Amino acid sequence: MGKKVRKESETPCKETFEPLPVEGKNPATVVLLLSSPEEDILVKACEAIHTFAEKGDENKVSLLGLGALEPLCQLISHDNKLVRRSALMALGIMTANSESDNIGNQCRLAFSVIWWRTMQPNVVVHEFATLCLASLSVDFVCKVQIFDSKGLPTLIQLLCSPDPDVKKNSLETIFNMVQDYQSRQAVHELGGIPQLLELLNSEFPVIQHLALRTLQNVTTDKDTRNTFREEQGFEKLMDILSNADFSDLHIEALQVVANCLNDSESFQLIHQGGGLTRLTEFIITPNITEIQSCAVKCIARVAQSAENRKLLHEQNVEKVLVELLSVSDVSVKTASCQAVSKMSFHLACKDCFRDLGGIPEIVQLLNNEMTDNLRTFLFILVQQLYGNCAGTVANSAATLGNMAGQGVIRCSILLHGAMQALVEPLKSTNVQVLVNTTQCLAMLACDTEARAELQTAGGLQPLVNLLRSYHKEVLHNACLAINVCASDEPTAVEMCRFGAVELLHEINQSVKRRSSVSKLAMTSLLNSNLSVKYSLTGHLSSTDIIRDGFYDAGKVSVCQRILTLEELSEQPVNQQRPIIFVNTSRKITTYFPAYFSDTDSDFGLITPLLDRKKKQKDETQPESPTEKQWKMMDDVSLPLLVKEVKESILPLSEEREQYAALARLVSEAMGGAVEMEKLHEFPWVLHLSELKFQLQSNVVPIGLIRRGIYRHRALLFKCLVDCIGLSCTLVRGEYNRAWNEVLLFTGNPSSNGRSSLPCRYIVDLLHQPGSLLKANTPAAVQYQTI
Ligand SMILES: *[C@@H]1O[C@H](CO)[C@@H](O)[C@H](O)[C@H]1NC(C)=O
Ligand SMILES: *[C@@H]1O[C@H](CO)[C@@H](O)[C@H](O)[C@H]1NC(C)=O
Ligand SMILES: *[C@@H]1O[C@H](CO)[C@@H](O)[C@H](O)[C@H]1NC(C)=O
Ligand SMILES: *[C@@H]1O[C@H](CO)[C@@H](O)[C@H](O)[C@H]1NC(C)=O
Ligand SMILES: *[C@@H]1O[C@H](CO)[C@@H](O)[C@H](O)[C@H]1NC(C)=O
Ligand SMILES: *[C@@H]1O[C@H](CO)[C@@H](O)[C@H](O)[C@H]1NC(C)=O
Repeated sequence: MGKKVRKESETPCKETFEPLPVEGKNPATVVLLLSSPEEDILVKACEAIHTFAEKGDENKVSLLGLGALEPLCQLISHDNKLVRRSALMALGIMTANSESDNIGNQCRLAFSVIWWRTMQPNVVVHEFATLCLASLSVDFVCKVQIFDSKGLPTLIQLLCSPDPDVKKNSLETIFNMVQDYQSRQAVHELGGIPQLLELLNSEFPVIQHLALRTLQNVTTDKDTRNTFREEQGFEKLMDILSNADFSDLHIEALQVVANCLNDSESFQLIHQGGGLTRLTEFIITPNITEIQSCAVKCIARVAQSAENRKLLHEQNVEKVLVELLSVSDVSVKTASCQAVSKMSFHLACKDCFRDLGGIPEIVQLLNNEMTDNLRTFLFILVQQLYGNCAGTVANSAATLGNMAGQGVIRCSILLHGAMQALVEPLKSTNVQVLVNTTQCLAMLACDTEARAELQTAGGLQPLVNLLRSYHKEVLHNACLAINVCASDEPTAVEMCRFGAVELLHEINQSVKRRSSVSKLAMTSLLNSNLSVKYSLTGHLSSTDIIRDGFYDAGKVSVCQRILTLEELSEQPVNQQRPIIFVNTSRKITTYFPAYFSDTDSDFGLITPLLDRKKKQKDETQPESPTEKQWKMMDDVSLPLLVKEVKESILPLSEEREQYAALARLVSEAMGGAVEMEKLHEFPWVLHLSELKFQLQSNVVPIGLIRRGIYRHRALLFKCLVDCIGLSCTLVRGEYNRAWNEVLLFTGNPSSNGRSSLPCRYIVDLLHQPGSLLKANTPAAVQYQTI
C-alpha cells in the first residue's frame, strides 16, 4: 500500500523536484548547503549546524575548519527573516562559550558584523547577538571594540528589555566590560546605576548575582558611590541583607557594602540606618563562614578611618573579633586578624585587645616589620597546624615549608611557635600530614635555636618514631629532618637516646628501605656519637675526634640497642670483655679531695673512684641528697699521660718521629713490646679481669690498663693523637683486632718531585713499637690479621 501511495504522489509533479531531505550526516556537505539559493535548505542547513555545534567545541572547530562562519555571517543579513534567524542562532551557538583561542579569534572576525545587527527589532536576534557579545566580551580586544563602537549605551538600554535572556546577556557583557577602568566610569556616567539597582529585584537569581557583582566593581569608583547613595543603594542592599530568602546574595551584597564603607559619609549613613548592628549580627551568625568573613572584612574596611574606629569601639566590636580569632575557618581568621590590626591603631581598642587576652601573637605581630597581610597569613598557617582537618594541616605545613626558604620569613614562622605546632602533626597517622610536616620541619630546623625549640617542645621523639614508617616518602622526609637536626650535639644525642641510630641501622639492613638519605641521616647522627659509630662501623676517620665519654663497647653486628655508658656501668660485673672508655678530665671531686695531689700517680687509688652505687655503700662518704646523677668514673692516669705526651711528643720536629715516639709511649703504658710468638703468654686477659673486679664494673678507664694488646693500644693511640692535634684513624678488624693508620709524606724529595704524595702507614704498637708499616705490605697485613 505504501508503495502505491508513493507512486501516486510522484506522478502529478513532473516539472520540479520534490524537496530533498537534508541529512546533515557530513558536515562538509551541510556547510556547502549554506550557499544554496533555496531558503528552506538554508534554514535546514543552519539548524543542522546549530545542532552540530551545540554538541561541543570539537564540532565547532571542525565547522570553523570547513569555513562555516563566513556564509553564516552573510546569512544574518539575508532578506528572509527565517534564514536570518536560524543563521544567527547557529552563530550564537558557535560563538558562545568557546574555550579555544582559535575559535575565539575567528569569532572575533565575525563579531563586527554581528554587532551591527543587534539593533534589529527581532528579540531573537537580540538574544543571540547579546549572547555572542557576552562570550566575546571576555576578550580584552573585543571589549575595546564594543566600547569604541558605542556599545555600552545600547547595552544599558537593553537592561530594560522585556526578554530576560537579553537582560542577562547584556548584563553579563557589562560585567565583563567593567573589569576595565574606562567602562567602570562610563556605566555611572551613562546612568547605568539605577538600572543595575532595578535588576536586584529580578526574579532570576542569576541576574541578581550579576547585578551585584557589577555593582561591586563599579562602586570602587568614588563618584559611582555617590550616585549609589543618592539612588538609595544602601536601602536596597539592606533589604537584601535583611531577607533570609536572599541569603545566597548576602556575600555579594556585603562586598558592595564593604566597598561603600570606604567613605565615611557612607558609613555614617549605614550606621544611622542601623546597618552597623546588622553587620555585627552577620558576624555573630555562626553558621555561614563566608558571610562571616565578609562581614568582618567590612569591619576592617570601616576601621580604616580613625573616626570609625571610635564608633566600632563603642559597639564593643573587639570582643567579637577576639572570639573569631579562635574559629577554625581560615578566611574568618584572616579577616579577623586584619580587622584587629586595623582597630589596634586606636589606643583604646589596642588596650581592649590586650585585656581580652589570648592574642599576644597579634600584639607581637603588630610590632614587627613585615606587612600586615603576610604576618597574618603566617600566624594563621601556624595556628592551622593545631587543627583537626588533616588536609588543612597538610597544606599549612607544606605552605610554611615552602615559605621557610626565605630567612626573614622563616624567622617569623618560628616566632609564631611553628616548632611547637609541628609536634602534634608529627604524631599523625595521616600520610599526607606526615609527608608535609616532616618536609616543613627539615626546612625550618636549619638553625640551632629552632632545633633546640623542637627538642624542648618534645618533637624529637615523634620524629625519630617516624623511622619506623614503611611509607617511602614519610621515611625519606623524616631522614632529611633528622639529618638537619643532627647538626647539634644536644639534639643528636637526644635522638640517639630515642633509638634513632638503631632504627637507622635497621633501615640500613634493608635493601628496600635504605636510601642515600637514610645513610646521610645515619652518618650525621653517628658523627655526633662516635662511640656508636665505632661500634657499628668499626671505623673512625682522622676527622672523628675522640673526646671524653667515648667508649669502645666492641662490635655490634646485629641490630640491638646500643647501651649508654651509664647503663653499661650499672650492669653487674660479668665475664665479657670490658668496655673501655676515655676520660681525660681531672676534676677534683668533692668526695675525694685528698687523693688528688699533684704527685698522685698511684693506681692503688682506684678503689675510691667508683661509681655512685659503690659510693653510696661507703658510710664515710658524705653523699649529698641531690647528687643522684650518674657521673663518669675518673681516670687518674690518662690525664698524666696526656700531659707527658704534650711535653715530650709535641716538640719533636718530624711528624714521622712524633708518631713513632707516641707509639713507643703507648706501648710502654700498656706493657711494652711483645713478640708475636709470645703474645699468648702476655697476661692481658687476667689483668683486665682483675681491673674489672677491682672497679666492680664492666667499664674500665683506658688509662688504668697496664697490660693491653692491639685494640686497647690502638684506642689509646687514637685518643692521644687527637689530644695533641695529630691525626690518625682507628680501625677495627676481625676478632676485635684494631689498628691505626697515619698519612705521611714520603721522606725522599729527590725522586721526580713525588715527595708531595702521602702514603698510608699502619702503626705498630705491639711487636716493634714505633715501626710504621706501609699499608698493604705483608708486614702491615700481618699486623692487621691473625
Ligand atoms: C569585580 O568583581 C569581581 C567579583 O564580583 C572580582 O572578582 C573582580 O576582581 C572585580 N574586578 C575588579 C577589576 O575590581
Ligand atoms: C579604600 O580606601 C583605601 C585607602 O583609604 C584604598 O587603598 C582602597 O583602594 C579603597 N578601596 C576602595 C574599594 O575604594
Ligand atoms: C544557619 O542558621 C540558621 C538559624 O540560626 C538556619 O535557619 C540556617 O538554615 C542555617 N544555615 C546553614 C547554611 O546552616
Ligand atoms: C601537602 O599536602 C597536600 C594534601 O593535603 C598535597 O596536595 C600537597 O601536594 C602536599 N605538598 C607537598 C609539598 O608535599
Ligand atoms: C650515643 O648513642 C647511644 C646509643 O643510641 C646513646 O645511648 C647515647 O646517649 C649517645 N651518646 C651521645 C654522647 O650521643
Ligand atoms: C649500611 O649498609 C651497607 C650495606 O650493607 C654497609 O656497607 C654500610 O656500612 C652500612 N652503614 C652503616 C652506617 O652501618
